Amino acid sequence: MDTAKIWQDVCMGLNGRIALVTGAARGIGRATGMRLAADGASVAFVDLDGESAVAAAAEATGAGATAIGIQGDVTDTSSVESFVNQAAELLGGLSILVNNAGIAPSVDVPHLDDETWQQVIDTNLTGAHRCVRAALPHLTAADGGRIINFTSIQGRAGSPLLAAYCASKGGLAAYTRALAAEFAPSGITANCVAPGFTRTDLIQQVTALPPVEKALVDRIPLGRLGSPEDIAGLVAWLAGEESAWVTGSEFTIDGGHTAVR
Ligand code: NAI
Repeated sequence: MDTAKIWQDVCMGLNGRIALVTGAARGIGRATGMRLAADGASVAFVDLDGESAVAAAAEATGAGATAIGIQGDVTDTSSVESFVNQAAELLGGLSILVNNAGIAPSVDVPHLDDETWQQVIDTNLTGAHRCVRAALPHLTAADGGRIINFTSIQGRAGSPLLAAYCASKGGLAAYTRALAAEFAPSGITANCVAPGFTRTDLIQQVTALPPVEKALVDRIPLGRLGSPEDIAGLVAWLAGEESAWVTGSEFTIDGGHTAVR
């Protein structure tokens, strides 16, 4: 065992690395951007809500990090190309791409029209592909590029009212395995983070109703919902040197929810 190398990797954190996080204005994306910045990466916070993305970047900068906030829409190819290239230009490259932007409208299957279906797939699945395609030249140029895609426990276990969401996340997991196969020769890894119920605006419908939240928490062995910071810690590990031999994997982080009956 090369203890010195392990020690060096741990101490290095993410110094010298450059990350782009989509959906970084709030929730898990914001916490992830903050965590990567705290670990030493330069970070581009990208979101539809440009004002809040800029505010998040300002908070990171205030804490001593290098960060920028950019308005961007993962459903728009020219917007994606623009924010990826802007981030790479302003920060000096791109080594870590975190595809976190996602939406989860609740609709039962009979009422799931083409427009809603398309919007979910376009954001959660095609959006990630657009970002990967645009970021690829920069990730290839970086030493050990990282792609981290946000799936969900609902990509594997079905949920009523979330058919499009479940399909998008299952598709994203399969897409990520294909990226792992295709990009391994370029030294780029691709993995998924699959959170369970995490306290953000996305699950407002659950947290707004205390009895519904209690019933849910009762099914989580660790006895609470996740926090955005819980999830960000796993992303930081996947973004770092210690995960160098990990690719094509999906990491569940759900307080044990899906491990038990
Ligand atoms: P959130 O709803 O709190 O935040 C999502 C962010 O994405 C928002 O800031 C929103 O403006 C941004 N966004 C949406 N569409 C966009 C677009 N077209 N272009 C750019 N930005 C866009 O959601 P949360 O909970 O932080 O979720 C983050 C990721 O984690 C999502 O992919 C979600 O599916 C996944 N996830 C969340 C879980 C939870 O319980 N909160 C559970 C499992 C997965």
